[in-house]
Amino acid sequence: MSTAAEIVDRADTLVSAGTMSIAGANTLHELDDMERELLGKASPLNSMREAIKSVQPADRATAGKAVAAARAALGDEVAKRRATLSADARAASLVHDRLDLTSGGRGYRRGHLHPVTRIWRDLEDVFVGMGYNVAQGPEVETDWYNFESLNFPPGHPARAMQDTLYVNLGRPEEVLLRTHTSPVQVRVMESQRPPIYVVAPGRAFRRDTLDARHSPVFHQIEGLAVDRGITLGDLLGTIETFIHALFGADINARFLPSFFPFTEPSAEFAMTCVFCEGVGCTVCSSTGWVELGGCGMVDPAVFEAVNIDPEQYTGFAFGFGIDRLVQLLYGVDHVKNLWDGDIRFAAQF
Ligand code: PHE
Repeated sequence: MSTAAEIVDRADTLVSAGTMSIAGANTLHELDDMERELLGKASPLNSMREAIKSVQPADRATAGKAVAAARAALGDEVAKRRATLSADARAASLVHDRLDLTSGGRGYRRGHLHPVTRIWRDLEDVFVGMGYNVAQGPEVETDWYNFESLNFPPGHPARAMQDTLYVNLGRPEEVLLRTHTSPVQVRVMESQRPPIYVVAPGRAFRRDTLDARHSPVFHQIEGLAVDRGITLGDLLGTIETFIHALFGADINARFLPSFFPFTEPSAEFAMTCVFCEGVGCTVCSSTGWVELGGCGMVDPAVFEAVNIDPEQYTGFAFGFGIDRLVQLLYGVDHVKNLWDGDIRFAAQF
């Protein structure tokens, strides 16, 4: 038996104890558990409902109201606490999960072309502007393309000027790293009929000891023109034109007789020293000129190697080092600076 007064009393106790525990719930999860304990099926409040039945009929309403009021009060407390905890959770997630869209990225540092690549491309542009095509050939060549077809027979003393790096493939000394870009001349003439106007920039290799101006790996650009009626005058004019295009009208070309097995006549060509404009300085050893490369009229023996009739066609060829040109243009004192991959060097250009 319970009395209404007992039930009212217990309900009050339950409300005040429950209100305190609800206020102490620190997470929504804890609050859910607490709600089940205070208001769920197994809750004391629920068993009090049963107890109402044993109250005197006249007092049941009082007891019933007290239990209902307690349930409502605790329900309100839970709802209030839930609202507070949800708001707190949302505020916390706004702080923690915040993505600051205004902070900007770290960004990429933009690089730029290596100076040799840049001059390589500038040279291509100048020659393409003059109607030339760009050709390519392999860096690993056979003796035939690198020497023999270019009129360097076995044992020819001119071979000795190009300290060759041989590859351990085929017969001894049959496969090598090309010592110049001239084999591309032969490959182009084998696959195309005149008129031919090509430049072939690329890497070449020689067994040179590294010094300020020599590197075992270097870059050259080769030029070849084959057509009817091509003369030495065309060669000189072409070289002068590209030097003017690249360096301006004050920089001139000079030719000195020379020898190459695959050109006849042959010449070495130089340009006005860009540093002293011809006056003479340390860069040009006081001559006013800097050597660029070799050139000449295609030797009839080369035409014969590729089945072009030297009675119908003539041509000229030239070749020079790109790295050296870059060294001159940018005042790079040692060629290794170009290639040892130090970003502090490369970033200067
Ligand atoms: N291939 C020659 C060298 O590397 C240069 C050259 C090219 C000379 C074309 C004449 C004609 O020395």
